[in-house]
Amino acid sequence: MSTTGNLIDGRAIADAIHLQTSQRIQALKARGIQPGLVFVRVGEDPASQVYVGMKERCSVRLGIASETRVLPEKTSEDELLALIDALNRDPKVHGILVQAPLPRHISAARVYAAVDPHKDVDGFHPANMGRLLLGDGSGFVPCTPAGVHELLLRSNVKVEGSEVVILGRGNIVGKPLAALLMQKASGANATVTVCHSATRDIAAHCKRADILVAAMGVARFVRANMVKPGAVVIDVGVNRVPDPATKSGYRLVGDVAFDEVQPVAGLITPNPGGVGPMTIAMLMQNTVRAAEMQTGLSRADAK
Ligand code: GUN
Repeated sequence: MSTTGNLIDGRAIADAIHLQTSQRIQALKARGIQPGLVFVRVGEDPASQVYVGMKERCSVRLGIASETRVLPEKTSEDELLALIDALNRDPKVHGILVQAPLPRHISAARVYAAVDPHKDVDGFHPANMGRLLLGDGSGFVPCTPAGVHELLLRSNVKVEGSEVVILGRGNIVGKPLAALLMQKASGANATVTVCHSATRDIAAHCKRADILVAAMGVARFVRANMVKPGAVVIDVGVNRVPDPATKSGYRLVGDVAFDEVQPVAGLITPNPGGVGPMTIAMLMQNTVRAAEMQTGLSRADAK
């Protein structure tokens, strides 16, 4: 259990997972296989540049052969689909990650459906999303929801039978996380409520949560008076707010007003240093699993 006071140390938990992942990478290398991961970034979204840079540095550190393909903002959907087709056919590439958001003229749904589901380490392909919903563990689970789940389990949080309230119904976090935590499976079996922009009285839902996950992208939305004393609070949000006192002119804040919620919460993720490192740890784990499956060392039933 990696907690200090009531803080969940996402970095320490991610490091423990990286250790297991790097052992699997060494085992692959002993068989002459190096896992390969290609990041595709379209345009110059500043947040995406930072995220992809962090993911690539981590994969290099673990011994994964990685590369980032940067395409200009004006790239057509057909050009992007052609690149994905080439990566799908390349046997040295075991994982493909197309960073979201994509420019508006490109259909994210078409792009994610074009990635070979066996290389879809993001878990965004409809086949992998469908498997998750069906409780079929043979697919890839999206990295942030998988990271939140792992963070809860490794912090000894009781998920079974708990009231989980998720703020946000996005395809990357809210929806897949709801599917994951409500599954009939040990370490899951939660009662899940998903709140969104049309929910009446969000505060009332939050207040009865044993586990509250904020993933709707509104800076400091969760205030102390919305949290049940002793609840576990997981902050997935990353929001840029203007701050003239900083060199960049902005600072990053979560969806949770950390300073006032921490004293009320039983456990809480810091932000940064909570969910972010876990997303990367799950991506590395998915990539190694993809390489194992594609090279005959099948671990279809394992994470
Ligand atoms: N943008 C924000 N989170 C993610 C993620 O997990 N994967 C990809 N591809 N893009 C993202």
